[in-house]
Amino acid sequence: MNRALYIMNHRAPYLCTKQYPDPRSPIPNPRSPIPDPNTMLNFLRLDELHPQAPGNKYFKLKYNLLKAYEKGMTKIVTPGGPFSNHLHATAATCARAGLESVGLVHGKRPPVLSPTLKDCEAWGMKLEYLERWQYAERNTEAFKHWVHNTYGPCYWIPEGGNNYLGVQGCMEIIEEEHRVHDIIAVPVGTGTTLAGILLTKGEHQRVMAFPALDDRDLPKRLEDQLYWSTMDRELAQELASQVDWQWDFTFGGFAKVTDELMAYIEGKAQQGLPLDRVYTAKMVFGVEVLINEGYILPEEQVLIVHTGGLQGNREIGD
Ligand SMILES: Cc1ncc(COP(=O)(O)O)c(C=O)c1O
Repeated sequence: MNRALYIMNHRAPYLCTKQYPDPRSPIPNPRSPIPDPNTMLNFLRLDELHPQAPGNKYFKLKYNLLKAYEKGMTKIVTPGGPFSNHLHATAATCARAGLESVGLVHGKRPPVLSPTLKDCEAWGMKLEYLERWQYAERNTEAFKHWVHNTYGPCYWIPEGGNNYLGVQGCMEIIEEEHRVHDIIAVPVGTGTTLAGILLTKGEHQRVMAFPALDDRDLPKRLEDQLYWSTMDRELAQELASQVDWQWDFTFGGFAKVTDELMAYIEGKAQQGLPLDRVYTAKMVFGVEVLINEGYILPEEQVLIVHTGGLQGNREIGD
């Protein structure tokens, strides 16, 4: 058995999906209020996949944590905002694995910690608060030097798990059985999940991307991510050009909500489909609008990737 597999199975058994029932086979949602009975929405419920690292977090952290083990690192350092699902999942998995973790948080320490940050602290993550200008440097080499000088030997995971190993993990999201669908819908933050899906989808499958923020540089950054992963500029351009970007469902920007969106989330929760406010609700709302408008045809089968994020729902009001 190779060393990485040994570590997966012995040192880090909490990372193995086999311990949990695999809910990833798409389940039709018969209660979804889709007007045309021929159109079935299928949800890939990654949110139910893993207790510590639900949703796409499991996939983005998997190879990063294995790499940390391989390098003999016992401390993980990573940045994120005060409501970051990535910080939350990293703190939880590190606590389970007996790894130290440091979270570099965007902004000043709030007088009252968000539930996300409270959990992170409770799991032993050391939280350091960075000024806006410092945080803006987080993707530079100089910043990485600062991290290593400040925290000593450590393994650095970029924001949102957005690196080659994050993409590699996300290449495991789509499996053979998911290639029967015509359309795959996925929410986008850094684009890591989208890149992994593009690299593994079936030839005939169309990928609809629902950005959680109105950042028109996302397509260019996606192409770069695909380039690091393939080292083939032409292929990266080709895959990136296949994405069907849906810009009309950002609801005013990152983490912004409207009364309409909140009512939609409430309605879906009552039907048994929990959605988060930042990513998945906007995507599912968008898919339904596109079906109602006839942009998605009745005969097209849609696979909606539920990327988790439900812990973030505690931030506003509940
Ligand atoms: C719940 C959830 N869905 C979707 C995304 C977007 O994923 P990505 O950053 O890979 O585009 C994130 C951010 O990581 C997230 O927390």
